[in-house]
Amino acid sequence: MRAVVWHGKRDVRVENVFDPVIQEPGDAIIRVTSTNICGSDLHLYEVLGAFMTAGDVLGHEAMGIVEEVGADVTAISPGDRVVIPFQVCCGTCWMCERGLQSQCETTQVREQGSGAALFGYSELYGSVPGGQAEFLRVPHAQYTHIKVPHGPADDRFVYLSDVLPTAWQAVAYADPEPEGTLLVLGLGPIGDMACRIALHRGVRQVVGVDCVDARLERARARGVTTLDLREVDGLGDAVRDLTAGRGADAVIDAVGMEAHGSPVVEVSQRVVAALPDRLAKKLMTTVGIDRLAAVQSAVDAVRRGGTISLSGVYGGMADPMPMMTLFDKQVQLRMGQANVKRWVPDILPLLTDDDPLGVDGFATHRLPLEAAPGAYADFQAKKNGMVKVVLEPGAPARHAP
Ligand SMILES: NC(=O)c1ccc[n+]([C@@H]2O[C@H](COP(=O)([O-])OP(=O)(O)OC[C@H]3O[C@@H](n4cnc5c(N)ncnc54)[C@H](O)[C@@H]3O)[C@@H](O)[C@H]2O)c1
Ligand SMILES: [Zn+2]
Ligand SMILES: [Zn+2]
Repeated sequence: MRAVVWHGKRDVRVENVFDPVIQEPGDAIIRVTSTNICGSDLHLYEVLGAFMTAGDVLGHEAMGIVEEVGADVTAISPGDRVVIPFQVCCGTCWMCERGLQSQCETTQVREQGSGAALFGYSELYGSVPGGQAEFLRVPHAQYTHIKVPHGPADDRFVYLSDVLPTAWQAVAYADPEPEGTLLVLGLGPIGDMACRIALHRGVRQVVGVDCVDARLERARARGVTTLDLREVDGLGDAVRDLTAGRGADAVIDAVGMEAHGSPVVEVSQRVVAALPDRLAKKLMTTVGIDRLAAVQSAVDAVRRGGTISLSGVYGGMADPMPMMTLFDKQVQLRMGQANVKRWVPDILPLLTDDDPLGVDGFATHRLPLEAAPGAYADFQAKKNGMVKVVLEPGAPARHAP
């Protein structure tokens, strides 16, 4: 089959690899019809490259049609339409029973000290071949799937794999007051969707922050108050100006480890280089080049007694955190990989023709799988208005249902 294969830093290729086969009675094979590129894939593309091995198949946001199931899989059968959560989870362990599927005790990658195994996410998460491919082997398929109806286009459901539950959890953990202000740092797919969910749930003021025109415009068009990092002098002050001097009740960090940290300095520099000098200087002095830039903004901009919800992925073992300020401001900090299946019952009723979250038009690009190398490069560089890419493998069915 064709698959998106990691070869090195900033080097992904579409190649022939062996078709996946049923290996365990709990496996299923799905024929992938849509498979997204995620901000998390960008970490593997460059920063976390050390944990990747040449030949690894990428991708953790896939959906498609069940082709084949192992003997123990009774919940789905060939022909069913399924979305695959980004984490492999059993559904019956102590963690899964408590809605902490990203900590599943059956699939935890203990030798790395990590939580549940993730599709296409390096040796840190179990080296499970990913879903940017024509076919995907799904372990623990009895539970690791979300059955969806046939009919609407894939766009309706494909974000159940990651974007929707991640954004939903980010908002749930932030727990903003309906009459209050939620600040969302980063307006990539996760931050954008978190804004949409918060507005849908009736949060009065949602403020979104980014430094990419297309992303700011997208959020503004849906009623988000936006702050452009290139234009504000001190984000905390700008947020206090909007909140009676107090700060945001809750802050979501949807940026993560590449907030202008070292490996992405190159990208930032490219972005900066494309700007007029005045803006470029402003960007460099307001955004900074610290990979913790977003967390630090969150700590500054949250009000005393408020909550910070980190959905951006962080990887450092010795990141300096402003403990004194966190303690003094009495900040609550919540974070983690999203527990996908935990939130599906809340989200599914919103995936209707009314489309309150705007999933049908959420993708900015739909491309054939073969276009993946260029799509990774453009997504990393935030070029061509690219916010969310859906890849279409387009393989014909192997088995009749
Ligand atoms: N917790 C989870 O389960 C989970 C799931 C999916 C993605 N993520 C993580 O969420 C983060 C966002 O994902 P995405 O797909 O939206 O990625 P993305 O890279 O498209 O979005 C990040 C956005 O942050 C902006 N940004 C950079 N520095 C900033 C700063 N200092 N302040 C404000 N904005 C800044 C960028 O311009 C970009 O638009 C990534 O770290 C990703 O790994 C976590
Ligand atoms: Zn993802
Ligand atoms: Zn489990």
